[in-house]
Amino acid sequence: MLTYRRGRLFMDQVALAEAAGRFGTPLYAYSKRAVLEAFGRLEGAFSRRKTLICYALKANPNRRIAALLAGCGAGAEVVSGGELRRALAAGFSPGKIVFSGVGKTEEELRLAVREGILAVILESEPEMGLLEDVARRLGRRAPVAVRLNPGVDAGTHAYVTTGTASTKFGVDKVSALRMYRKAAASRHLAATGIHCHIGSQVTSVEPYRRAAAVVAALVRDLEGRGITLDFADLGGGMGVAYADGLAMDLPELARALEETLSRWPNMRLVIEPGRLLTAEAGVLLTTVLYRKKTAKRDFLVVDAGMSDLIRPALYGAAHPVWPEREGGEKTNLVDIVGPVCEAADHLAKGARLPDCAAGDILAVLKTGAYGFSMSSQYNSRPRAAEVLVDGGKVLLIRRREVLADLVRGEL
Ligand code: LLP
Repeated sequence: MLTYRRGRLFMDQVALAEAAGRFGTPLYAYSKRAVLEAFGRLEGAFSRRKTLICYALKANPNRRIAALLAGCGAGAEVVSGGELRRALAAGFSPGKIVFSGVGKTEEELRLAVREGILAVILESEPEMGLLEDVARRLGRRAPVAVRLNPGVDAGTHAYVTTGTASTKFGVDKVSALRMYRKAAASRHLAATGIHCHIGSQVTSVEPYRRAAAVVAALVRDLEGRGITLDFADLGGGMGVAYADGLAMDLPELARALEETLSRWPNMRLVIEPGRLLTAEAGVLLTTVLYRKKTAKRDFLVVDAGMSDLIRPALYGAAHPVWPEREGGEKTNLVDIVGPVCEAADHLAKGARLPDCAAGDILAVLKTGAYGFSMSSQYNSRPRAAEVLVDGGKVLLIRRREVLADLVRGEL
């Protein structure tokens, strides 16, 4: 998807320097082909079992990206009323949408019930009580899945670990059982599934295997009590290869999950990948503003910062950085930093690059997930533009913000 041709960086058939010239930097560019290929690989890996792939919108909620995946037949995983509305607008069918999150408001629950989504993922007993009230008032029966916290450490960054008892996510097995019994007795709830999500950027199959075993044990227990479920949602979190090169082995993951559910051939498997579908499809283009040396470090100051891509500052994430113009020995060890007034503000540390000068463009790779979606206007910086590369065409899919956007809504 990214290649050098005659020394210039291309995304598919598009010269990225041209896109940057036309739309300015910082600029997010996504390859349509790469998104479709990622979906195809995942679908292929899980082809032996009825599987619904629910795209986790938070990774990249742009309507054009979401619509691409909806067009492939994907469902959606949403965590707010805003995401639910986006998913519906992008064309996901309500019957393929799951709604998780520990703090859904009454208004959000009402929206979910009215739209008739596949399931509300319950993260606590009080939430279940509120949902039951909401459904009763609407005269509906809400399909639910309880999010089981399996007590499994996914071995990923602490900020994106969700499967251990010290995190706020899901409920333990005892509470889950109680919730399923209550749901079974309710006229306004229907327990249709079970849910589990252990974390994000997970690169080993083992924690999934362990979590799936905990889910399977609960499903058996429920069966013993006469409660049968239609689907098991084993979450997202499949890791991609950033600078460390580690990635999830999808065929092995599929085998592990299918094996654990082999007793229930008719139970639908649901997975909720976000990063896996969009991370590698995107680059963040940024222009070098200055070179700057201190007694200790060599800096490239660029026009994108942590307000555009927070992953390096927040998680210490290491995204590869490529120069738009190929060539020269990669002899310089530089810190690539942005204009934001925080010492944490950086895009890369100790990146190896050829000589760069002001005006040169750099591409920060694998930023199609949790890049733009986590961006902000911090330091009153208008957010970047986004483009979709479709073969040789470039389509603007979100305009760059202007100064007026910064004060919109202020009174
Ligand atoms: N399902 C649930 C319930 C989730 O909480 C998440 C992500 C996903 C699915 C999708 O996870 P994925 O397949 O994308 O790993 N901002 C962080 C990632 C936060 C993930 C939050 N939840 C980052 O930039 O690494």
